[in-house]
Amino acid sequence: MLNIVILAAGKGTRMYSNVPKVLHKLAGRALVQHVIDTAQQLNPQKICVVYGHGGDAVPQALSGKGLEFVLQEPQLGTGHAVQQAMPYLSETAEKTLVLYGDVPLTSLHTLQKLMAVPDDALSLLTIKLNQPTGYGRIVRNLEGKVTAIVEEKDATPEQRLINEVNTGILVAPTLKLKQWLNRLGNNNAQQEYYLTDIVSMAVEDGVAIHTAHPAAEWEVLGINNKLQLAALERIWQRQQAEHLLQTGVTLADPARIDIRGKLICGKDVEIDVGCVFEGDVELGDNVKVGAYCVIRQSTIDKGVQISSYTHIDQAEVGAGSLIGPYARLRPGSKLHADVHVGNFVEIKNSEIAAHSKANHLSYIGDSTVGSRVNIGAGTITCNYDGANKFRTVIEDDAFIGSDTQLIAPVTVGRGATIGAGSTITRDTPPEELTLSRSKQITISGWKRPQKGKK
Ligand code: UD1
Ligand code: MG
Repeated sequence: MLNIVILAAGKGTRMYSNVPKVLHKLAGRALVQHVIDTAQQLNPQKICVVYGHGGDAVPQALSGKGLEFVLQEPQLGTGHAVQQAMPYLSETAEKTLVLYGDVPLTSLHTLQKLMAVPDDALSLLTIKLNQPTGYGRIVRNLEGKVTAIVEEKDATPEQRLINEVNTGILVAPTLKLKQWLNRLGNNNAQQEYYLTDIVSMAVEDGVAIHTAHPAAEWEVLGINNKLQLAALERIWQRQQAEHLLQTGVTLADPARIDIRGKLICGKDVEIDVGCVFEGDVELGDNVKVGAYCVIRQSTIDKGVQISSYTHIDQAEVGAGSLIGPYARLRPGSKLHADVHVGNFVEIKNSEIAAHSKANHLSYIGDSTVGSRVNIGAGTITCNYDGANKFRTVIEDDAFIGSDTQLIAPVTVGRGATIGAGSTITRDTPPEELTLSRSKQITISGWKRPQKGKK
């Protein structure tokens, strides 16, 4: 059984922000949310988040997720931070894993390797760096066994030459950890209670110390400023792009795609430059996405072509449909197979059955549209009276002439035709032509007004 402590009390001064550092976003998710999401996959008994700055912003942002929160005030170091969490941890969980809220991308696999040690051992995640400056150094004896971690500021010149560093992430036996934390002092260069001092205590107590290493350096990179945040964002996006390429997706440019969530692609999917995918997005086989599309929390069925500058949010698009360019599908849009939605068409909370078309300049809201319907340019469903929303129903095979307003609630009958320029306020019968239009007249001899003399 496992406890997890996530340290997130640091102020993040160098972010120059009123938002606590761990709430800044990487790939659309708060830094600490990445850590929590990975932590949860380890099925811990408890996850305790130690927070500090920003009032209740951190617990508020993460509420309702079964986490414990503990305020660390003042912040007297990493050891002090873990100490604050101890009363909230389960003593029946043999191991306690310490993670950092500002180190977002440590993989599950790496944490599993770290934890693959006996329950009574201490295990440290370490890495060799060409530039170890700033990090705590891993001190080993002649047999190669870890004997201590020395912070840069406390290190001797020889110790500073060591290039194996402490990532800060470790797993310790819970009861031992509690004892060690009680013995921590702050007699060091920074007058802080260092979590790293538990290492020499473990040596004294004869506790075995193991080390594990991440598969890649970016897994243990922490964020202190916007520069590092932007750099890690690019690294992460590159990872995701490479994964897509490796699984057969064609990307016009792997450096110009942003995935802020989970993108699942079928076979022979092609994605042009500048697209953003948010939340869970599924693209079926042979889907083509044009340049600069934003697709969020949506399912796109096989063979769909989405042309450039299209926005799709919480929508379903049926097989073989043609969407865009410049189309907007808003939440609750459900398009069946072979639907055509063209430029400057907005669809919201509407179901459109197979083979129907709205190719130009329309608003379709709160509507149920049948099959093989043609919606002419400039058609507007007037769904809102300023207080309430009403539905428009357009039955199979209807033809709506251009520049029609359908004042909901209203039903256009099966096979009905609406003459262009009509304002339809009552249900229209099936198979008939309905129009509402003032008669065209010509006033002969009419003259345009002239400017008056001054
Ligand atoms: C720490 C380690 C160092 C390691 C480095 C890796 C110690 C003493 N040193 O150093 O060996 O190489 O991380 O980045 O542990 N935090 C709190 N409360 C506090 C202090 C820190 O929650 O009172 C949190 C911070 O928000 C941050 C993490 O702990 O997420 C690390 O704190 P930081 O001040 O960056 O530690 P370092 O001095 O860099
Ligand atoms: Mg640090």
